[in-house]
Amino acid sequence: MIRKGKLYYPDKAFKDKSWINDKSIYKKADKDPVKFWEDLAKEIDWFKEPKKTFSHYAPYFKWFEGGKLNITYNALDKNLETRKNKVALIWEPEPLNEEPRILTYYELYLEVNKFANALKKLGVKKGDRVGIYLPMIPEVVIAMLACSRIGAVHIVVFSAFSSTALNIRLLDTETKVLITADGYFRRGKVIDLKKNADKALKNTKVKKVIVVKRANNKVAFKKDRDLWWYELVENEKDECSPEKMNSEDTQFILYTSGSTGRPKGCLHVCGGYTVQAYFTGKWIFDLHDEDIFWSTADVGWITGHTYTVYSPLLNGATFLMFEGAPNWPKPDRWADIIDKHGVNIFYTAPTAIRMFKKQCGKLSRTKFKTLRLLGTVGEPIDEHSWNWFFRNVGREKCPLVDTWWQTETGGILISSLPGIGPFKPAYTGLAFPGFKFDILDDKGKSVKTNEKGNLVLLSPFAPALLRMVYKNPKKYKKTYWSDYGDKIYFTSDAAYKDKNGLIRIVGRVDDVIKVAGHRVTTGELENVLSKHEHVTECAIVGIPDKIKGEVPIAFIVSKGKVTESKLEKELILEIREKIGPVALPKRIYLVSDLPKTRSGKIMRRIFKRLFTKEPLGDLSTLANPESVKEIKKIIKK
Ligand code: PRX
Repeated sequence: MIRKGKLYYPDKAFKDKSWINDKSIYKKADKDPVKFWEDLAKEIDWFKEPKKTFSHYAPYFKWFEGGKLNITYNALDKNLETRKNKVALIWEPEPLNEEPRILTYYELYLEVNKFANALKKLGVKKGDRVGIYLPMIPEVVIAMLACSRIGAVHIVVFSAFSSTALNIRLLDTETKVLITADGYFRRGKVIDLKKNADKALKNTKVKKVIVVKRANNKVAFKKDRDLWWYELVENEKDECSPEKMNSEDTQFILYTSGSTGRPKGCLHVCGGYTVQAYFTGKWIFDLHDEDIFWSTADVGWITGHTYTVYSPLLNGATFLMFEGAPNWPKPDRWADIIDKHGVNIFYTAPTAIRMFKKQCGKLSRTKFKTLRLLGTVGEPIDEHSWNWFFRNVGREKCPLVDTWWQTETGGILISSLPGIGPFKPAYTGLAFPGFKFDILDDKGKSVKTNEKGNLVLLSPFAPALLRMVYKNPKKYKKTYWSDYGDKIYFTSDAAYKDKNGLIRIVGRVDDVIKVAGHRVTTGELENVLSKHEHVTECAIVGIPDKIKGEVPIAFIVSKGKVTESKLEKELILEIREKIGPVALPKRIYLVSDLPKTRSGKIMRRIFKRLFTKEPLGDLSTLANPESVKEIKKIIKK
């Protein structure tokens, strides 16, 4: 990499080999973004070419109307012509004594077709919702692709989410078929997934549960409802023609934390998602035939959907999937996996990088010889961690793409391109060609260079941007299309631009907190806690954490006789059961009062500032200033 002041640029060798290495691409895209995407979409195989590239009737919009396609045709069939025996998926199990599983494009194609036929036999049709509650095993990829093959809508639920979280999603989508596993390995333990899945079925419409045998743990089986995956596919035909999907038909729904405490189903559509997933992967990760791409994201999150599964396959690349925790059974397991399989593109989250930095320190320079490109996603990365990753893992040779996007956007929207740059520690960089951003103040005026404001996306938005919050158009309008009117998509992120036009993300301006890159809302947590019999009032705030970026802290006003430690235990259990371990508060404090304005609104910023030791600001509107003194004392203790 070439350094110019604080900026880094790719060297000639990298530049020459990359798909995009000429800055003029930005000008071209800027001139007419719709035409730009129209031309790009020609690289996708359509059963029927789109008639109209973009139409807008605020706050709704469409891309590639009139087109018919299937994402699996582009991800599998198309690759059979030239990559039939090429490895599509390398799966690394967690137990060290187990062999990896390798699937070529042809093998994956056959498995997907067989499972698609099995789903059809169970009565699953185009538009039906299918729940997928699976760990990081090859069957999760097969299941997602099989749904897409027949036009069914997958709802993947992160395997570490609780049965209540799964139940909410199954109810909301009226899912009739759920795919799960007996169990899986995590840090040497078998996690009994089937038990969780069974609990989640209460009051749902689920008629069939398909179970993958992974961990061989003993599980309860309900006759007529539960089916073993391996029995189901045993005699299935391995040909299943792909459903011809309209561009604006639903591709999948993925739930994410919303600001009112209830998760919202982000609805993504076939045409735009396929085009954006393909191109952002191709240009940002510079995917070529010889590449082995490892995105560490779990399929339960949007990064897992787009860059662990769909984008590498659409690009005919080989991708790696790992079942377990990257630092188990030893802190540098992730480094061993890179070396063992010759990974050359490595995409992970800042939290993982901070953990690697802490646990592995200075890494041997004999490692990582295969790496040629690094990427991060999900939360802001600090300069120190960026530099550690760049120097120790990337050996100062690999471009480091910091990719900004959201569950809602379906694919990456901001990231400098590796063959062009520039890269600057802690900055996500330039918007991907064809996307128009602005940074606005509260009145809707563009802020100046280096001034903080709200990050918004302008028309024509992005092909993969969500089209709807499932069954909730009101929420769709209010959350994304109301702060600056119905023609501007508000990201809920604060950001600023430097003099080179590079964007730096500051963080969320709503009640979302990013815990280890995972998205949870304070409202969602408060909803759970406030239902406890001993809780009168509660406030959750996100505070900075050295490894996880942010962690939730709870302040509780309790009623009845209960000790702090007993209540803390019960509340932790409640959150584990209702949401999952990702959302656990780091501390729960009992206080006698919460700081409130005279109109009764809890002033959450005070808690946060007490932790970060920032000035508390104007407290004159507080109805109960003595509460601040008490909280200060408790935190100090
Ligand atoms: O605040 C931004 C942060 O993650 C939010 C979206 O979270 P989620 O829907 O879970 O998707 C994460 C993975 C795509 C954003 O609103 N975020 C995402 N990427 C970055 C980021 N913050 C800073 N830098 C990033 N590269």
